[in-house]
Amino acid sequence: MNTKAYKNVLVEISNKIGFITINRPKQLNALNKETIEELHEAFDGLNLDCNVRVIIVTGSGEKAFVAGADIKEFMNFDEQQGRELAAKGQELLFDFVENLTTPVIAAINGFALGGGLELALASHIRIASSNAKMGLPEVSLGVIPGYGGTQRLAQIIGKGRAMDMVLSAEMIDAETALQYGLVTQVCQQEDLIQTAVDKARKLMRNSTQAQAFAIKAVNSGYQKNGFETEKQLFGKAFTTQDFKEGTTAFVERRKPNFNNTAIK
Ligand code: CAA
Repeated sequence: MNTKAYKNVLVEISNKIGFITINRPKQLNALNKETIEELHEAFDGLNLDCNVRVIIVTGSGEKAFVAGADIKEFMNFDEQQGRELAAKGQELLFDFVENLTTPVIAAINGFALGGGLELALASHIRIASSNAKMGLPEVSLGVIPGYGGTQRLAQIIGKGRAMDMVLSAEMIDAETALQYGLVTQVCQQEDLIQTAVDKARKLMRNSTQAQAFAIKAVNSGYQKNGFETEKQLFGKAFTTQDFKEGTTAFVERRKPNFNNTAIK
């Protein structure tokens, strides 16, 4: 068994399965810049390793898979920094994971919100524990999903349900996610990793080469310019008073007071 530990990410290889655990439990595994860079390296390393046939990604602790992009890190960014945040994140992590040739299973062990749900959406297969809660809360912060969520959520569960989740910013539970097809299996939290490992073993019975071709073929049907629009509008949201108010309210642990009479 090989093990490599970064500051915020744990990596382990066991029986041809690469395990990535996002490890910032005190911040509910929120994705800051450093964690995204480490995840890029970890995914890249496992994908290139001939001993790894499937990758399982999960969050550390019992509460969260990932509670989103790190709000405290980006709350003072301007438009250009916002656009770059989305573009860099997509390049290093979300597009990157979606286009890996090794199948990636997201084992969603708790909150998967914002960038956390977006990481699960970029993964090839999603399994959730029964306590998991999933959502895209960005509009409650005065911003929009910027790591592909506006595109991939609609691709996976359909435009109607995606629009409801994005505009309401509400979370759904694991059973609803199963019903929506957002995840394909739900199990008890204590069984989550074993359930993901069982799935990985099933995938391993098949041709790795053919799976790599299949991932490419499936993805090729979904490459639309909506991703570019998302990056531009994510950046634009950073120029608004609502973004300042929404992120400040989060840090101050109060409800935001948006100026909803402003011109759109
Ligand atoms: N960014 C930064 N810090 C976060 C965080 C995030 N996304 N989510 C949680 N944390 C931090 C909290 O600030 C808190 O830190 P301190 O103890 O230092 O104050 C710690 O994690 C524990 O969180 P809570 O005390 O809030 O835990 P809770 O049980 O009361 O609530 C929660 C849990 C409902 C998940 C709540 O933490 C929450 O709403 N988090 C934010 C979710 C969110 O809005 N995610 C979207 C981020 S924006 C995004 O992802 C943009 C994009 O698409 C690119």
